[in-house]
Amino acid sequence: MRDPLPLPPRRVFLEAFGCQMNVLDGELVLTDLRRRGYELADGPESADLLVFNTCSVREHAEERVLSRIGQLRGRKRREPGLRIAVMGCMAERMAADLVRRAPHVDVVCGSRQFPRLAELLDRAESSGQPVVAVGEADPAGAARDVGVRPEKFSAYVSVMRGCHHRCAYCIVPRVRGGREESRPVREVVEEVRSLAADGVREVTLLGQNINSYGRGLPDRPGLPALLRAVHEVEGILRIRFLTSNPMDIEESLLDAMAELQKVMEYLHFPAQSGSDAVLRRMARGYTAKRYLEIARQARRTVPGIELASDFIVGFPGESEADFRATVDLMEEVRFQQAFVFKYSPRPGTRAAVFPDSVPDDVKRERNRILLEVQQRHSLAINQTRIGRTLPVLVAGPSERRADRLTGRTRANQIVVFAGSPDLAGRIVPVEIRRVSSLTLLGEVVG
Ligand code: SAH
Ligand code: F3S
Repeated sequence: MRDPLPLPPRRVFLEAFGCQMNVLDGELVLTDLRRRGYELADGPESADLLVFNTCSVREHAEERVLSRIGQLRGRKRREPGLRIAVMGCMAERMAADLVRRAPHVDVVCGSRQFPRLAELLDRAESSGQPVVAVGEADPAGAARDVGVRPEKFSAYVSVMRGCHHRCAYCIVPRVRGGREESRPVREVVEEVRSLAADGVREVTLLGQNINSYGRGLPDRPGLPALLRAVHEVEGILRIRFLTSNPMDIEESLLDAMAELQKVMEYLHFPAQSGSDAVLRRMARGYTAKRYLEIARQARRTVPGIELASDFIVGFPGESEADFRATVDLMEEVRFQQAFVFKYSPRPGTRAAVFPDSVPDDVKRERNRILLEVQQRHSLAINQTRIGRTLPVLVAGPSERRADRLTGRTRANQIVVFAGSPDLAGRIVPVEIRRVSSLTLLGEVVG
């Protein structure tokens, strides 16, 4: 038997890894636990429940969590009342293996089981045994308390789960579901409405493959229809969405972006590579030429749009010429933002059996080169804003300089400027004076 638990209230600390979807799932879990009487701890040391919300997309993300959990072995011996729960994609992927490797973990809760985390903790308590729950479940069961979110004026809204594509490197379909499930338009709009009533001004709609939103729903509404419906919600000033897959971007989406004033001029559509041979082996379903066409079309249709992308360097068989093609694609498109990752083989994906042929130092060098190209482009794009006055949605005081505010432009650039904290949540005109590749600096005008 275990030692009796300390008396309530118990304190929980959640450590998050991974994507926006994970951030949102973590918020939902914390909401639920608070409803059941938990308080939020200031840090891991003062918590008696530690929740690790994990990511599986690259091995490195998993290693970090495993080492954090490993370090807790001693603490758990000293504090037998400490409870450790692992949720998210790594919990899904490793399941019972995780308990074998780290027997001091109490609950392993898969990426679609998180609404049940509290119940799983109770079960571990009464049985005195670790509990593992992975696989299919209905995350729609996670009611949202709109009051719990990291930002006051911006919120994530999950509109679909899972991904029906099978990109050769990607573990997402395995750990988040390989069938796509969309929430009905009405339900999403309801949630956005209650967020707006609670002061939210900007929503970011989330889906692993958001361009195929609604395909499984009875009337097949589609992302443009969803954007139109959310656009109607009073109080919401800005709408963003993530992540677009190039193979599913349709003209009607670009038309909706052009037409709907609240939808921001920013499109994140990961290219991954500029080499057709690599794209084919990745099973991405488009060529570099097609990708460039979409980029051009987006710029033609949506004035002022900025583009963003992800790239993987060192995919199996990526030659120097393949890599050059990626640099060429970047030079041609000139993204405002690009995330660059070194290829990491993931168990159970198709690429996992391809020989991981690019040595790590070559991956590192290619990674460095792409980041350098990107920094140059970000800076050049930001420089075009100098002297212009841009509408900025104010998030609040800057974390680094308390006397400054931060916010974002419509095209998702971070702006830092002086101003009164009560501007937070409002859209203000800021004249841009100086820029770096990461930030625009300016003054409120008018
Ligand atoms: N459609 C998803 C993609 C999730 S993974 C989305 O919502 O963004 C995010 C990014 O991680 C991918 O675009 C890809 O660039 C990178 N990535 C995925 N699997 C990877 C792997 N095995 N190794 C390295 N990077 C990977
Ligand atoms: Fe992954 Fe490709 Fe889907 S990157 S999330 S399988 S579109």
